[in-house]
Amino acid sequence: MANLGVNICGVDFKNPVIPASGVFGYGREYEELYSLSKLGGIATKGTTITKRMGNPAPRIAETPSGMLNSVGLQNPGIDYFIEKELPNLLTKDTVIISNIAGSTIDECVAIAEKLNETEVHMIELNISCPNVKKGGATFGVSCEGASEITKAVRKATTKPLIVKLSPNVTSIVDIAKAVESEGADSISLINTLLGMRIDINTKRPILKNNMGGLSGSAVFPVAVRMVWQVANAVKVPVIGMGGISNGKDAIEMMMAGARAVQVGGAVFTDPFAPIKIIDEINSWLDSKGIKDINEIVGSVQPW
Ligand code: FUM
Repeated sequence: MANLGVNICGVDFKNPVIPASGVFGYGREYEELYSLSKLGGIATKGTTITKRMGNPAPRIAETPSGMLNSVGLQNPGIDYFIEKELPNLLTKDTVIISNIAGSTIDECVAIAEKLNETEVHMIELNISCPNVKKGGATFGVSCEGASEITKAVRKATTKPLIVKLSPNVTSIVDIAKAVESEGADSISLINTLLGMRIDINTKRPILKNNMGGLSGSAVFPVAVRMVWQVANAVKVPVIGMGGISNGKDAIEMMMAGARAVQVGGAVFTDPFAPIKIIDEINSWLDSKGIKDINEIVGSVQPW
């Protein structure tokens, strides 16, 4: 069996597979199916300072090889998370990454300060949610916005800080460099691509919010391209996500330069997907005689 362990900004992961923020809640439903300690890490649902009910339904639409969501950051708020969910997560032998998604810089700072007093292992700053009017991707689509919020949150916490980027930008490399220069310890990408579906019988958008974020296999090549571009432009470790649904996808993403991968929509079609992906990575490495997963990170040989 190959070594599957990876290190991201000083934090050891037993393997590189992390269920992505927003698809795994706080792990409660999944811990009935398998031990969460098998996972490399868990990224929790984007948390705001107070409870949010999210956007009106319908907020999910099927698409070819994917789905659109406009959940709108439904979550119980940071105090509930810290008191009721984090203690259970911290009993698991896995890395806990708390995703924060405030509407303003001050809100993100306040959440980061609260998390700084906890035992959470890492913070993922979400500057890329496409489904909210304030915050989210409004921070992440300009270098100025991305820099300003990263700088403020960086000052608010000594925890390793991952910044999660939006693909809905002209130059992903410019945004990545901007957050790196303001103190991001790691960069995760991609969040969802802004999309829309219309019911041709009613002429109404299927989502009540009109638009939503596209995820699933359909976005995988876009994610690989952006991860490759960013990994070649920054020094901090990159965490890749976007349409990963099996072990070969995870290996491809790591060859593009990702040190670890997050698995999103695939867990909706198969809740065991992260566990299967760990096994498939392991089998593939064994079949190639590769003893350490770190050997494949960034190993693509471009023409
Ligand atoms: O709408 C949502 O809750 C999605 C969040 C995200 O994509 O970060």
